[in-house]
Amino acid sequence: MVYYPNGRSSLRHRYFPCVTGWEKGIRQIVYRNLIKPLLFSMDAERSHSMGEAMMRVPLVWSAVSVGSRVTAPELGTEFAGLSLPTPLGMAAGFDKECRVIRPLLSMGFGFATAGTVTLGPRPGNPPPRVIRQPERFAILNALGFPGPGLEIAEQRLARMHKAKDRMFISIAGTIEDEIIECHRRLQEHGAAIELNISSPNTAGLRVFHEPGRLRALIEALTREKTVPLFVKLPPWSREDGPRRESIRLAETSVSSGADGLVIANTHPIEHEGLSASHRGGLSGAPLTDHTARMVAEIKAAIGGDGDVIACGGIFTAEDVWQMLSLGASAVQLYTAFIYEGPGLPGRINRGLLKMMKRAEITNVRDIRGLPPG
Ligand SMILES: Cc1cc2nc3c(=O)[nH]c(=O)nc-3n(C[C@H](O)[C@H](O)[C@H](O)COP(=O)(O)O)c2cc1C
Repeated sequence: MVYYPNGRSSLRHRYFPCVTGWEKGIRQIVYRNLIKPLLFSMDAERSHSMGEAMMRVPLVWSAVSVGSRVTAPELGTEFAGLSLPTPLGMAAGFDKECRVIRPLLSMGFGFATAGTVTLGPRPGNPPPRVIRQPERFAILNALGFPGPGLEIAEQRLARMHKAKDRMFISIAGTIEDEIIECHRRLQEHGAAIELNISSPNTAGLRVFHEPGRLRALIEALTREKTVPLFVKLPPWSREDGPRRESIRLAETSVSSGADGLVIANTHPIEHEGLSASHRGGLSGAPLTDHTARMVAEIKAAIGGDGDVIACGGIFTAEDVWQMLSLGASAVQLYTAFIYEGPGLPGRINRGLLKMMKRAEITNVRDIRGLPPG
């Protein structure tokens, strides 16, 4: 199926994943040589649960976060009525259980996404459903939204009110009423809602790829919305048809009331190691260049009508710079965090700051339109 291998970024990510002056920092050495080998020696889902369990211990995340908090006012940004200390966010899916938003924020993310939350609890697809591909800094997943469901998610999110101003909440469903209910009950707990119509692992979500149905849904949500609403789009393949369809979904979303778009979800793939259907989504380094192309084209199509959050294959400050220069207001990442560890957000923030100093700018919004840093 689709994949966008790219010589430049895969080699760069493979051999020089995060070249900054802090590369040899103690935290990085400990993560690379101790924690990562331990986590990667286990099955991907088990290691995720273990990593998450460690993050839930306040002493651990306080120690891990030392020096990562964002303090430089130059990195601060505002869009869609949000005010964030840095444009770097954690993407949906890392904290499906809605438990570790505060640790993520303290590690240097400007915002973090909880969920995806669905109305009822879901077991997801049968395992095996997550495969790491370390040789190309990628992950394949066919999780299919395992999660505690709205009731439990709401209780957990309500307890995280201190993180509310920097928390996005991702929601999904296969019929309108489910989504409307999640939106109604969760928006008071977060800074923004992210509507996921694009997971390649849940066939029912594709009903909202029909523009009329998407428009009606967004209009219904818009009538009740009290916080910004972002729509997370599917990526397009190289063919022209899906590309036109994605641009149409982008235009439909913003013209029916969404404040912005997340571009994009994982790329559909087939792999025989994955679950029963052999289908799933690819994330990580192979996506970087394609994400950049989608951001540029969609931003050109929607103009000033909505904000774009770039997501897919972002590993370095240079990647963040590129997405912002192409018109994104912010970025999200997930896979890079798995490969690079909890020091990554801090390193990206410091790298971005250095690049801004070199370009003699003092506001991340001024990166728009500049050449690669
Ligand atoms: C294991 C895994 C689970 C994910 N779960 C979700 C999810 O529940 N909801 C969602 O919108 N995206 C989910 N994603 C997609 C990510 O949010 C992101 O769009 C994608 O991984 C591309 O970004 P990356 O290359 O930085 O990982 C998941 C990704 C991975 C790797």
